[in-house]
Amino acid sequence: MKFDFDSVIDRKGTNSRKWDNCEEIFGREDILPMWVADMDFKAPEEVISAMRERLEHGIYGYTFRSESYNEAIINWVKKRHGWDIKSEWITFSPGVVPAISIGIQTFTQAGDKVIIQPPIYPPFYSTVRESGRIVIENELSYVDGHYKMDIAKLEEQIKAKDISFTNNTYGLNNKFDEKVKMFLLCNPHNPTGRVWTKEELLDIGKICTENNILIVSDEIHSDIIYSDYKHIPIASLSEELEQCTITCIAPSKTFSLAGLSASAIIIPNEKIRNMFNNTLETWHIGGGNIFGNVGLETAYRYGEEWLEELLVYLEGNRNYLIKYFEERIPKIKPVFSQATYLAWLDCSELGLEGRDLMDFFVNEAKVGVNPGTAFGEKYGHFIRLNIACPRSTLKEGLKRIQSAVN
Ligand SMILES: Cc1ncc(COP(=O)(O)O)c(C=O)c1O
Repeated sequence: MKFDFDSVIDRKGTNSRKWDNCEEIFGREDILPMWVADMDFKAPEEVISAMRERLEHGIYGYTFRSESYNEAIINWVKKRHGWDIKSEWITFSPGVVPAISIGIQTFTQAGDKVIIQPPIYPPFYSTVRESGRIVIENELSYVDGHYKMDIAKLEEQIKAKDISFTNNTYGLNNKFDEKVKMFLLCNPHNPTGRVWTKEELLDIGKICTENNILIVSDEIHSDIIYSDYKHIPIASLSEELEQCTITCIAPSKTFSLAGLSASAIIIPNEKIRNMFNNTLETWHIGGGNIFGNVGLETAYRYGEEWLEELLVYLEGNRNYLIKYFEERIPKIKPVFSQATYLAWLDCSELGLEGRDLMDFFVNEAKVGVNPGTAFGEKYGHFIRLNIACPRSTLKEGLKRIQSAVN
């Protein structure tokens, strides 16, 4: 291998949310953090040196994004995902979660309904609920360790006039008969690691276009796809879908740049894009920061060779984990990740749930994980483990879990 993913880099003392916050989050310092979705690898050298060069300049005044920045995004999306996008479609957000929030604030109103597919990355709940919108849960079906979309249920939920909902943050627990306004898609899906197929995406697309529903597609994990799977941007499937989709991508998960707060938001529909940009302008958050802009452009322009090796390494980690659980901790069943560096672990056979399961991982195994309940209240018997770390760290984490279980 040309690149080094084996070295263990000390992240403590860098204000790392994953490594420096353990006492506060888990109640103890001596855990191995395998939670928040960022990587324990250094970014590609090209990215570090481009930022170093900019750093050396010494003046960090207001900045803007040039045509070459957009060109790097266009080429990346075309080469990696086969989607032809135009420069004017590209806009910005200081992160994908902020983009989801901007979408919710701009295109829905308090009391409107937004569909999500649990188990799901927690901000899919919070961005909707905290802005006084109503979450509609189109739960994924889980059969024989495999997750699928429940399209029939989705259609029913979207067509229903009187949908029961779970949001009462703002006292909105009356019955509304407004229809669903927005669909928050996570492709590939966090935490299940599913790469949605063309058929699944077309099914959703058909329902959303027929019912005038705006799709916000979070494709932040779309570069971390394993052998035999292919990411399809939902908007790339037809012109009609392009016109009703906001696609969110970022180099943050892919290249270890999550702290740079830079993401690219692709909005082909001019009216929707203008409204989105108007919100960015109203909040004065459209400029981005110098290092985010340099980091994003350099990563997309020069990061591909590094990414190819990273994918081999991460797939090795995924395979190692699956075999480890099969052979040594059969009571815990990992869901097979087709994408993402997140492992979704079914711990039903341990006979522990919710707080007790977390207590087991934190205080017995001493491994910092995300509780399943963060992804939906029904998932108390799951936990999520981040495997974007050197193999030796992964081995240590699994060894700790094994001794606790056995
Ligand atoms: C599906 C998904 N979307 C968004 C994010 C975070 O995006 P950002 O840091 O750009 O707001 C994450 C991070 O874990 C994620 O898993």
